[in-house]
Amino acid sequence: MSSSSSFDNLDESKAFLDSEDTIPTRQRQTSNRKTLPFYLLIALTLLSWCITALLVVLFLTHPLLRTKAIPPQSQPHPQTWPGPLPSDLKDSWPAIEYETRVFGGGLNYNESSGEIVWEADDVEDGKEGNRYFGLPSEEIDEAWEDLMRGEYSVLTPSEAHPFIQSSNLRPFHHDGKYHFEPSVFHNLHCLNAVRMHIDSAYYKTNKHSHLHQLKNQPNFQRIHIDHCLDQIRQALMCAGDMTPTPMYTWPGFGIALGRSAAHSCRKWESIREWYDGRAKEMGAVEEDGSSSIF
Ligand SMILES: *[C@@H]1O[C@H](CO)[C@@H](O)[C@H](O)[C@H]1NC(C)=O
Repeated sequence: MSSSSSFDNLDESKAFLDSEDTIPTRQRQTSNRKTLPFYLLIALTLLSWCITALLVVLFLTHPLLRTKAIPPQSQPHPQTWPGPLPSDLKDSWPAIEYETRVFGGGLNYNESSGEIVWEADDVEDGKEGNRYFGLPSEEIDEAWEDLMRGEYSVLTPSEAHPFIQSSNLRPFHHDGKYHFEPSVFHNLHCLNAVRMHIDSAYYKTNKHSHLHQLKNQPNFQRIHIDHCLDQIRQALMCAGDMTPTPMYTWPGFGIALGRSAAHSCRKWESIREWYDGRAKEMGAVEEDGSSSIF
């Protein structure tokens, strides 16, 4: 091939590696010697620069070289984040807003004491301690009660219609209304049920107990907890949160501890506000069956 033979005529190391050597070649060109190889040499030199530049760009942008997580401010503005999704109850759509949220309650290693420290939850709220978990207490039960207030609100007849059609949904006996809870509340209810199951000795006698006892089915408590864990599993997989949780280690300490970057979250406050408003307008019942009108 002619191209490969003219290529062979060039000093490759000079063409690719030593651009200064092209200057004497350019000066020689003014004396009209070897015009064709000169242009070829220039072209190949430019090509080699382009390839080098391309390789440098590819190298620098390689994901393995990115050591820092993308900072939140370089992410799209919250208003451009995904809005409501098809399965969200339509009435809740205006309440679906997004925010960047740093999770609290992380585990940290105190190198001077050699102990693991459980940090406070919801660091952004400036609240001390852990409100929802820990050894059972009145405070923890009250925090959960407040979180779950008005758990079962009411579906309008048209919202209830698809469920009446497909799965024989019936109104509650005491008020003749169709009740529901958003899935996030069901998942929280389940998480709370698991929490109380861990401290079942305490909750068997506690007034806040929601441990479900069925006289004729002694294994119901166990089934309920397994159901709850499986609901939480599916909810976590459904959300598919891809926020990186890098693992931290300390010399001489055998456990790696994860700590997430800031998460992209649905704004809980606006969800809660919408649900309170709906309960006030349409009524709601608590888990113990008591009617609660906001
Ligand atoms: C770490 O442990 C030391 C020694 O017990 C203690 O003085 C210090 O306050 C602890 N630091 C944190 C951040 O908990």
